[in-house]
Amino acid sequence: MAYQTLIVEIEDNVALIRLNRPEALNALNSVLLGELADALKSADGNDKVRCVVITGSEKAFAAGADIKEMSSKTYVEMFGTNFFGTEPDSIGRTRKPIIAAVAGYALGGGCELAMMCDFIICADNAKFGQPEINLGIIAGIGGTQRLTRFVGKSKAMDMHLTGRFMDAAEAERSGLVSRVVPLAQLMPEAMAAAQKIAAKSQISVMAAKECVDRAYETTLNEGVLFERRLFHSMFATEDQKEGMAAFLEKREPQFRDK
Ligand code: CAA
Repeated sequence: MAYQTLIVEIEDNVALIRLNRPEALNALNSVLLGELADALKSADGNDKVRCVVITGSEKAFAAGADIKEMSSKTYVEMFGTNFFGTEPDSIGRTRKPIIAAVAGYALGGGCELAMMCDFIICADNAKFGQPEINLGIIAGIGGTQRLTRFVGKSKAMDMHLTGRFMDAAEAERSGLVSRVVPLAQLMPEAMAAAQKIAAKSQISVMAAKECVDRAYETTLNEGVLFERRLFHSMFATEDQKEGMAAFLEKREPQFRDK
């Protein structure tokens, strides 16, 4: 499907979704968020897709929610339409793994979108921030909650209250991103990671994703129990038999998602 604000390519079982509003540094307007939710839904339902990568341009992953679109809105419009209440939730419901490949600015809603992905690989020019405070507002797509869980209260407060940006080295140090690579290596690195995931059993990939996500929603004991039960359930799959047989026979496994 052709989108106005996205370029979507599927190659080697990976859906690459590129945010494409260069004139606004990929600011997240309603059209883009709707199209992104749609692209993720169709990737989730497409048997050829086993992992998703979301990226932007070299200058900006996304510079935030679209300020021009929001500037004249009233409280009644924001609350009445549950602004940002629908599309971001549907992004979070995607069952297949999503990697954010971030170069340049990931600010406000852009930082929040990256944090909604399963993990973030960033280029050495990346800058993360929640500068909404400079606009007389606060984050609205989960930034106060997710950033705090990822980097801790002190740094999250610092970012949200001062609006300062965090560079790639600080983002890696604080656990916001999983890897930092030179800008030229960003897409090869992200696509290689996605292809590595795509080669696993999709059943165990989705189970692992659900378990890690559960860590943010529950107590340690409940999370460990949830993990153990899903671990037990893996033994009902053919892929468990194949994975372990391949190890013992010293060959590569051929997973069939069964
Ligand atoms: N919304 C709409 N347009 C944006 C935008 C945004 N968030 N960010 C950048 N743009 C537009 C600019 O208006 C400009 O357009 P024009 O050429 O038509 O004027 C174009 O993108 C290029 O931007 P700049 O000229 O500002 O580029 P720069 O290199 O000088 O600065 C920047 C880059 C530091 C990212 C700067 O653009 C900036 O500060 N952007 C806003 C960042 C921000 O405040 N984000 C939070 C938004 S609110 C939010 O996200 C709420 C939420 O949590 C849901």
